[in-house]
Amino acid sequence: MRIVGTGSAAPKNVITNHQLAQIMDTSDEWIRSRTGIEERHVARGETCLSLALDAAKAALKASGVPKERIGVVICATVSNEKRCPSLASCLQRDLGLSADILAFDLNAACSGFIYALICASHLISPDCYALIVGSEVLSRITDMNDRNTSVLFGDGAGAAIIAPQDMTQTVPFSWVTQSFGNDEVLYIDEHIHMNGASVFKFAVEKLVSNVRTVLERAQVALEDIDLLICHQANQRIIASAARQLGLPMERFFMNLARYGNTSAASVPIALDEAVRNGHVKRGANVIIAGFGGGLTVGAVYLQWA
Ligand code: UT7
Repeated sequence: MRIVGTGSAAPKNVITNHQLAQIMDTSDEWIRSRTGIEERHVARGETCLSLALDAAKAALKASGVPKERIGVVICATVSNEKRCPSLASCLQRDLGLSADILAFDLNAACSGFIYALICASHLISPDCYALIVGSEVLSRITDMNDRNTSVLFGDGAGAAIIAPQDMTQTVPFSWVTQSFGNDEVLYIDEHIHMNGASVFKFAVEKLVSNVRTVLERAQVALEDIDLLICHQANQRIIASAARQLGLPMERFFMNLARYGNTSAASVPIALDEAVRNGHVKRGANVIIAGFGGGLTVGAVYLQWA
């Protein structure tokens, strides 16, 4: 499979750590030093659908793929305003895609975009490309009275168009996913609840082991990896994983400071920025990795075609 176009969108409204410190018992210093977050986009009227639509349109435009080619739409989200119809169904309608389509949402929290990418890789064919999206309005389900979680999250969406590889060349690709039923350390009912320290430990351990697994499955050496795009939850999680892997931080694309944790949207927003800023070049060896509620984890290795 190949990623042939990416796009992203974020609400216009930006809230800084300093602004949060005016409405709750926190500080810019605490948030910045514990997480690396400086500001986040927060929806004021935007919805999961409107953000997903903007990101999907940008990805379609970047890919040059005619919309008639899209046969699969997968949306990863935990914060869609409606339970039914799915975000994917509404995107099919609003993008004017064919109704002869497989369109569904999936819930793997912050690993959602990785899960969607892996699903798409199994469903595409030369006549059937996939649109995959991660879109979240987490501000809708964040408890602003809980400083343990409310300073961490942001809103946004990212999208990618997935095409089959050119039959004349083999594009290296490997993946791993895991799911551990755990409804205690990170779960959502009306609001997001999290035991930060437990999730932190889990995230570092799984980021390291899953990077090693996809490398082993693809028979690629760690030194040959050009860029790692990980779920943007906490700078210290990525720094710890980098230390354990023996990789410099420069190999990790980071945009957490400006977005906070946008759950399923974080990986595709980062991927889109990395592509648009020229960090991902043809032939580059890339690892994309996520971790989060479920608990779920997933990683993909691919060579950028
Ligand atoms: O995307 C899903 C995956 N989620 C994650 O990856 C999150 C993983 N976890 C983390 O990122 C970190 O655990 C946090 C950033 C959530 C918390 O950092 P920490 O270093 O683990 O802090 P802590 O939870 O151990 O809290 C330390 C102290 C506590 O005070 P006491 O008990 O030591 O007096 C908290 O009450 O910091 C306090 N605290 C705050 N202080 C100021 C917690 N939240 C805040 C806050 N502002 N917003």
